[in-house]
Amino acid sequence: MQKKYSPLKQFNLYWKEALRKKEPNAEYLYFATADRKKRPHVRTVLIKTVDKKGVGFVTQSLGPKTGQMRQSKYVEACVNWPKMKMQIRLGGKVAPMSNSVVKKLWKKRPREAQLLYSLGIPQSSPIPSYEYLLRRLSALAVQWRGKRKIPLSKYYVGFVIEPEMIEFLHHSQARLNLREHYRKTSKGWMKTILAP
Ligand SMILES: Cc1cc2nc3c(=O)[nH]c(=O)nc-3n(C[C@H](O)[C@H](O)[C@H](O)COP(=O)(O)O)c2cc1C
Repeated sequence: MQKKYSPLKQFNLYWKEALRKKEPNAEYLYFATADRKKRPHVRTVLIKTVDKKGVGFVTQSLGPKTGQMRQSKYVEACVNWPKMKMQIRLGGKVAPMSNSVVKKLWKKRPREAQLLYSLGIPQSSPIPSYEYLLRRLSALAVQWRGKRKIPLSKYYVGFVIEPEMIEFLHHSQARLNLREHYRKTSKGWMKTILAP
C-alpha cells in the first residue's frame, strides 16, 4: 500500500516530459466509451488539462461520445509515447469540466474552430457534403465579421476523466515490459505488477 504516492501526479510528470521531448503525439488520448448495448467506441481526443482530479478534454455536446458518457460514466483512455517507450492506460468515471476552465480553453481556440462549434451541427451526424459545411461556416463568419469575440458556444463542453485505475507500461524490445498497475481504494492507491 502506498498512501502518499499519486499515479495521477506521476502521469502529469510523464505528460510534461512527453511535451518536452516533443513526442509526436504527446497530446493524443485514445478515448473509449460504451453505448447502451455495451459496444465499445474509441477515438482520439486531445489532452487539454491534467490536474489532481484527472485528465481533461473538450468535445461537442451533441456528439455520440457525449451521449455515451451520459449513459455510462465509465470510460477508458490510453496514451502511447514511443520516444519514452511508454503506454499509459487510465480507467474511471468522467465528470464535467468546471465552467471556468471551459471558458479559458474556449478563449485559446482559433476563431474558425469557435465558429464551427457555434454552428451547432451535431458531431458525427451526416451532412450533405464537405462544401456544405464550408458554406455554412463562411456564412457564419460573415455574420461575425468585425465583431471582436465569439461568445462561448453552448456546444463546447469539457470532461475530466477521474481515474480509478492507472497502468504505466514501460515497453521493452524483448517483450519484458514492466507493467505498474494502480487501483484506487478507500485506503489509497494499491500497486500491483502485471505479467507482460
Ligand atoms: C488528432 C486528433 C485530435 C482530435 N481531437 C478531438 C477532440 O479533442 N475532441 C473531439 O471531440 N474530437 C476530436 N477528434 C475527432 C475524434 O477523434 C472523433 O472523430 C470525433 O470526436 C467524433 O467522435 P464520436 O462520434 O465518437 O463522438 C480528434 C481527431 C484527431 C485525429
